Amino acid sequence: MSAPSDTQRMEKIVSLCKRRGFVFQSSEIYGGLNGVWDYGPLGVELKRNLKNYWWQVTVHERDDVVGMDGSILTHPAVLRASGHVEGFSDPMIDCRTCKAHLRADQLVEKKGVKQCPNCGGKDLTAPRPFNLMFETHVGAATDESSIAYLRPETAQSIFVQFKNILEVSRKKLPFGIAQIGKAFRNEINPRNFTFRSREFEQMELEYFCRPEQGMELLEYWKKERLKFYENIGIPRSKLHVLTVSDEERAFYSKGTYDIEYDFPFGWQELEGVAYRTDYDLSQHQKASGKSLEYFDEETKQRFVPHVVEPSAGVDRTVLALICEAYSEDQAPDEKGKMETRLVLRFHPRIAPVKCGVFPLLRNNPQLVAKAKEIVDLLRPHMTVFYDESGAIGRRYRRQDEIGTPFGITVDFETLGEKDPALRDTVTLRDRDSMKQERVAIQDLPAILRERLA
Ligand code: GAP
Repeated sequence: MSAPSDTQRMEKIVSLCKRRGFVFQSSEIYGGLNGVWDYGPLGVELKRNLKNYWWQVTVHERDDVVGMDGSILTHPAVLRASGHVEGFSDPMIDCRTCKAHLRADQLVEKKGVKQCPNCGGKDLTAPRPFNLMFETHVGAATDESSIAYLRPETAQSIFVQFKNILEVSRKKLPFGIAQIGKAFRNEINPRNFTFRSREFEQMELEYFCRPEQGMELLEYWKKERLKFYENIGIPRSKLHVLTVSDEERAFYSKGTYDIEYDFPFGWQELEGVAYRTDYDLSQHQKASGKSLEYFDEETKQRFVPHVVEPSAGVDRTVLALICEAYSEDQAPDEKGKMETRLVLRFHPRIAPVKCGVFPLLRNNPQLVAKAKEIVDLLRPHMTVFYDESGAIGRRYRRQDEIGTPFGITVDFETLGEKDPALRDTVTLRDRDSMKQERVAIQDLPAILRERLA
């Protein structure tokens, strides 16, 4: 159970997300669609920065990984072979008192008796499996023959395209196929804001290897993934690696770790890193009748590769980034009086807006023109926000609140009015320390690019 302060913190985060345009409830003007979220102008930038960085380090910076982008609509045979049609379900229980549908693990236990968490009712149905997949129909017919599914994970299209990608990329084991894309699960109880949604995105890597490399690569990818989170601003102290027990692990997995983050609502999974053996490729080989074997030129052996899978949630990581960044401190207002400052301390690498540009006064054409020149200078390199309205302190606060790491102010010194030596220099303000330094306009792109890397 979270402490009250954590509940309040989460409420503040949800409210900030809406107020500043990170996340909105989907179909809000019609009452909302439960478990589905829309990302606003800042949320979409944050999400893109996260996905781009994942793609950069997972695909572009490596020789041994290629990418793909599979379809969302999935042939039922794929999901029958993978086991999803038969077994991708959560145990569901109904409360006969308040009619709530509950996941079995959401029941509360008091004095050894299971109760409904909503109304405390003890009149509960027996658990029954509830398949989480969204079913649809392809084409005009709406019978058995036209059923297709919205994919519940991106991984299966990677397995199904394994042979094609192996042939075109001519990679040798070990090598990986990466994908970022939407997945859909009809969660019984979506909750904790975007944490458990019905539509979400995954960043998945299937890293194929020889059987004897599996356990070693599981350790390797666990370390790589922890490094990734640290590089986007989530400290190691807020991450926990759970070794999934033999009983809880999928029967085909020889080892699985859950990387968890310390959310305000408790430690929860961000990503799973699983050694899935040759289960998926073998299943698809059996069901399709097509060989998914790898031919090792050196040993002249044919075998079905094994796979290690780091599978991360985009939306959960975005939520973790916002939770981690959220902070309140004390800062002086325009008159020097201390006030509470709300600041998102995003790592500059993932901040939605990198730099705010402010002319000191909006009614001075020279200051405005110079500020707009700076916007044009920086825009090819980064996201820039121009703001001329309100007192300068207010403008800084508005950028602090959305996590903009740098603020540039064009003042009378920029115009060379006080000291000709300061002509074409500006103040560069750091969001976290609030310290300002004077730098030449022409040096701004290089200075900022270095600090954003
Ligand atoms: N291919 C393996 C797989 O899909 P998973 O643990 O079911 O494994 C991987 O999902 C990641 O996808 C999770 O760690 C989580 O970050 C994200 N995820 C899963 N279900 C989600 C949901 N309902 N809402 C948001 N993210 C979810």
